[in-house]
Amino acid sequence: MLNQTIRSWLALALAMGAATVLAQDYPSRPITMVMPYAPGGPGDAITRVFAASMQKTLGQTIVVDNTAGASGTIGTAKVARSKPDGYTLLMIHVSHATNLAMFKSLPYHPVDDFEPIGQATMGPMLVFSRSDFPAKDLNEFVAYVKANSSKVSLAHAGVGSASHLCALMLMNTLKVKLNEIPYKGTGPALNDLMGGQVDLMCDQTSGTVPAVKAGKIKAYAVAGPSRLPSLQEVPAFGESGVEGFDINISFGLYAPRGTPKPVLDQLAGALQKAVADPDVRKRLDGMGISAVNADRARPEALRAHLKTEIDTLGSLLTKAGVQSN
Ligand code: MLT
Repeated sequence: MLNQTIRSWLALALAMGAATVLAQDYPSRPITMVMPYAPGGPGDAITRVFAASMQKTLGQTIVVDNTAGASGTIGTAKVARSKPDGYTLLMIHVSHATNLAMFKSLPYHPVDDFEPIGQATMGPMLVFSRSDFPAKDLNEFVAYVKANSSKVSLAHAGVGSASHLCALMLMNTLKVKLNEIPYKGTGPALNDLMGGQVDLMCDQTSGTVPAVKAGKIKAYAVAGPSRLPSLQEVPAFGESGVEGFDINISFGLYAPRGTPKPVLDQLAGALQKAVADPDVRKRLDGMGISAVNADRARPEALRAHLKTEIDTLGSLLTKAGVQSN
């Protein structure tokens, strides 16, 4: 019995010693930031902005790894299984919460298997179409979609993604059922939409604002109460008397559960510097999204945000009967 107790104390002391050594040297080699959606989408763009800023603070290269597929669960599981040493991180949004409700079984638990580091961004969503879709403004869009619902296709980035959530809200608001086409991320979905293979999408503004400005896609409305500073000509759904169609997407940074506290503190410090970095703010501004204030780039803020999303969106989706696998 005594031997067992001594062995446990020794193991704990060794683990604490190893964690201290790790934290003192951290980071001594490149860090991988996993983005569980395809290249060319909003998540990819946002992760690259933060990787570039945080690597300046941490003094080590941050490599962005797009491990996409299965609604972001493949990349997320990869981080959950990684060594908790601060060298593999996860940048993810609302799908961290929605996948819990959407999938009957997940190879990880979004709360139990991760350490939150902090929130990074907040951003609105936009309803848009291929450039030759036969509706020139929001009124025509609503009328056309209602009259032709069985013919209209609606692309999204996979069940549980932000664009899927927005697609569900759009169909619910307009009381129509459109033909959903799931992709591995906004990048490939947007390519097909610009190529005319699919009709509509409701997506984050990060990749879409430049495409609207270039006339490659047609924007009908902001999924929220007010217009975007970067797209003043596009109305908000709220203006047309449609209430409750309001969705904002926040990305946050996580490490695997068990990452030593001093390492998490360094990462949170670098994230707080990044959200205040004028270059980060300027780049995000150009995408129509914002960096959070530094007080949100903290573990407790991300933990609370995730809990709210799990409680509200999770139960909404479960009630709506939207489930995968
Ligand atoms: C992406 O980066 O592809 C997106 O964040 C997907 C989405 O959630 O709609």
